[in-house]
Formats: sequence, structure tokens, C-alpha cells
Amino acid sequence: MGSENEIPAKSAEPKRKSGVVRIRPMEVDDLAPVFHLGETLFTAADAPNLYRTWDEFEVVGLFQSDWATCFVAEYNEKLAGFALGTIITKTHSAWKYGHLIWLGVEPEYMRKGVAEKLFRHFRDVTSEEGVRMLIVDTEADNLAALRFFRKMGFSSPQEHIYLSLNLASRQRGTANGRKNGPPKRPGKQR
Ligand SMILES: CC(C)(COP(=O)(O)OP(=O)(O)OC[C@H]1O[C@@H](n2cnc3c(N)ncnc32)[C@H](O)[C@@H]1OP(=O)(O)O)[C@@H](O)C(=O)NCCC(=O)NCCS
Repeated sequence: MGSENEIPAKSAEPKRKSGVVRIRPMEVDDLAPVFHLGETLFTAADAPNLYRTWDEFEVVGLFQSDWATCFVAEYNEKLAGFALGTIITKTHSAWKYGHLIWLGVEPEYMRKGVAEKLFRHFRDVTSEEGVRMLIVDTEADNLAALRFFRKMGFSSPQEHIYLSLNLASRQRGTANGRKNGPPKRPGKQR
């Protein structure tokens, strides 16, 4: 018997092939394929994210700390996407927040409802854990993601401005960041 997570994917465009999308918990064997898929989706140029970087440690770290909220999607039994998130509990607040940190779909399987199923699964699992609000973020020019999240019911986007301070000029001409050689030991000057 097919479960709610094994329903045929929608096919709104005639050119789309129909297939079966299955959502399941991420497993250790998924680490490398998920990492490599993410590498193609979250390139530094397309998705610069100053506070999180897509690298091996991100994937392994989330798998280790938040296994229960990391999922993969299979489309006709092939890896088609992933949703990696966490549950945030704040001190002095009864609310729990679900942060969907990384959501990605293999380009070959895009627009087939894979992300929608991943998202719904993430929402249902976190809701069962007592989460009362979901949070996502994306670059302002990532129209696909913005449309997707709007369709999933997200609203009230809030602008967040990143500022940067380049420290390179301060470090120029110094060895290992030090201007006048190694620091002197206090109290032992001749
Ligand atoms: C955003 C992303 C996850 C969507 O995955 P997907 O599996 O193609 O999305 P779905 O098929 O479930 O689309 C559901 C709806 O989202 C919207 N949507 C998705 N991709 C879209 C696109 N490229 N352009 C416009 N709307 C889009 C549509 O409303 C779509 O419904 P429709 O197909 O009936 O019109 C995918 O494009 C992706 O992996 N992008 C790169 C990584 C990324 O930006 N991740 C999000 C931030 S972490």
C-alpha cells in the first residue's frame, strides 16, 4: 500500500515524465551524494551566504546534530533532493521554531513536486515535535525559491542587510597579522 509519501508526482506540463517521489530520513550513505548535489546548487557565486557555507562539514554536522530533521527525496528510486533543517528552542520562549536550512532538488527533477513533498514532510515532522513556526531564508534574487516558499504559505519576507568590513588592509605588511613582530613578554624588559 502506498503511503502519503509515495504518491505519484504531479505533472502540470505535458513534457514532464511522471514518477514516484519518496521521502525518507537521510542515511549515512547519502552524505556524499547530497554533498555533491548541493555543490552544484549552492555555488559561491549563485548563493553567497555569509553565515553558512555549503561544505562537507555542514552536511556531516547537520546529519550528526539534526538527523531527525534531515530528509532526502528519491524520484523513481534515484536521489532527487534533500531538505536539511533543525529545531530551534529559545530561552524564555515556549515556542519552538523549525529552520529549514538547505533545500535542494536535482535539476533533472525540478518542477515535479519534489521540493513540495520534502517541505511538507519537514513541516509535518517538525509540527509533531511541537514546532509552531517555520523559518526559511534565501537570496533576494532567488526567484524560484521565493515563488516556491510563497506557494508553501510563507509570507512577510523581512529584509536583512549584510554589511562587510574588509580587514585585509590592516593585515597588509604584517606577519601573521602582527605589525611589529612578536609581542614582548610583559615585565622582562632589559
Ligand atoms: C527552489 C527549489 C528547491 C524548487 O524545487 P522543485 O522541486 O523544482 O519545486 P516544486 O516542483 O515542488 O515546485 C513547487 C512550486 O514552486 C514554484 N517554483 C518552483 N520552481 C520554480 C521556478 N524555477 N520558477 C518559478 N516557480 C517555481 C512553483 O509555484 C511550483 O509549482 P508549479 O510547478 O505547479 O508551478 C529548486 O529550484 C532548487 O533546488 N533550487 C536551488 C537551491 C535553492 O535555491 N534552494 C532554496 C533555498 S535553500
